Amino acid sequence: MSENFVVTATAPVNIATIKYWGKKDEKLIIPVNDSISATLSSDYMCAKTTIAISPNFEKDQIWLNGIEESIENPRLLNCIRNIKNKAKIGTDKLKWKIHICSENNFPTAAGLASSSAGYACLVYALSHIYNVKENISDIARQGSGSACRSIYGGFVQWYTGIKNDGSDSIALQLAPASHWPEMRVIILVVNDKQKKTSSTIGMQRTVETSKLLHYRVKYCVQGHIDKMIQAIKNKNFDLFAEITMRDSNQFHAVCLDTYPPAIYMNDTSHAIASFVHEYNAAANSYKVAYTFDAGPNACLFTLEKNVPALLYTITKVFPTSGSVKDYITGIPINIENKSINA
Ligand code: DP6
Repeated sequence: MSENFVVTATAPVNIATIKYWGKKDEKLIIPVNDSISATLSSDYMCAKTTIAISPNFEKDQIWLNGIEESIENPRLLNCIRNIKNKAKIGTDKLKWKIHICSENNFPTAAGLASSSAGYACLVYALSHIYNVKENISDIARQGSGSACRSIYGGFVQWYTGIKNDGSDSIALQLAPASHWPEMRVIILVVNDKQKKTSSTIGMQRTVETSKLLHYRVKYCVQGHIDKMIQAIKNKNFDLFAEITMRDSNQFHAVCLDTYPPAIYMNDTSHAIASFVHEYNAAANSYKVAYTFDAGPNACLFTLEKNVPALLYTITKVFPTSGSVKDYITGIPINIENKSINA
């Protein structure tokens, strides 16, 4: 290996247009359905992780946003173990203790896909420290399911796979960002507080209690996936917008069908959804599409030419709903800085 014992990486968040919700294997994080997402530009919302290994460190340690956390997190330990199993460095260095320092430049755990960027970044940085060259999306997946999609830029599909060990439950790029450079995402931060029910707990409860989830998985998602691939391939924004909104709505319907229900959207979120439908109806075409993850914040997809008029109207209609920022999809993960420290 080249002598890199300190690595800093950044990884952007991804926004799902076809949602992952529900696992068929909790430990390996194998999803009940395929999902599709767009990876945002790392200039805006990203995680940044610095990892160092050294014979002088006394113990493994991790700091998240400046605060030391317990390293005894099973998902974190799984990622480290899985990377080390594929490591191509001297066995002496495998025994060195590790220090991990990670931060997000956006609210953590507020339904803004922070874990997707965090674990993608962690696993990517680990792969550079331990000199792992192969596909690492299946390892990132075991940190947080959605993280496997942030390994790639542009438009990405995460396949459920058919193997019990999850080795084929990986993410692959459908199209690079340059395929559809006009695509933009606007994030409306309705609430940046930590959500009440985490995605992990929420989807576990959904799998246990929602019949609607089984209907979604059996009869609906594959159709959404096929149409989304077609929309991306043909750069068909009308189809992209309709399927994105339908899938988001069905995901939240499934959350409501969970018992007790997992409620993520609030009144402002619903007002934003209504606004989008009215805005499109007035234009007599699809100008914008909403999607909501496990939180009240809205992610709006639109095309570059629509951004100024849309932002103008949004800031008039929702003047106090929080910060409004626009993001560009699609710069892949980049290693910012590798340096030798041993
Ligand atoms: C609603 O990936 O955060 O954002 O695998 O348990 O860590 P775990 O869950 P997570 O779930 C994300 C759910 C979602 C939809 C999506 O990103 O596809």
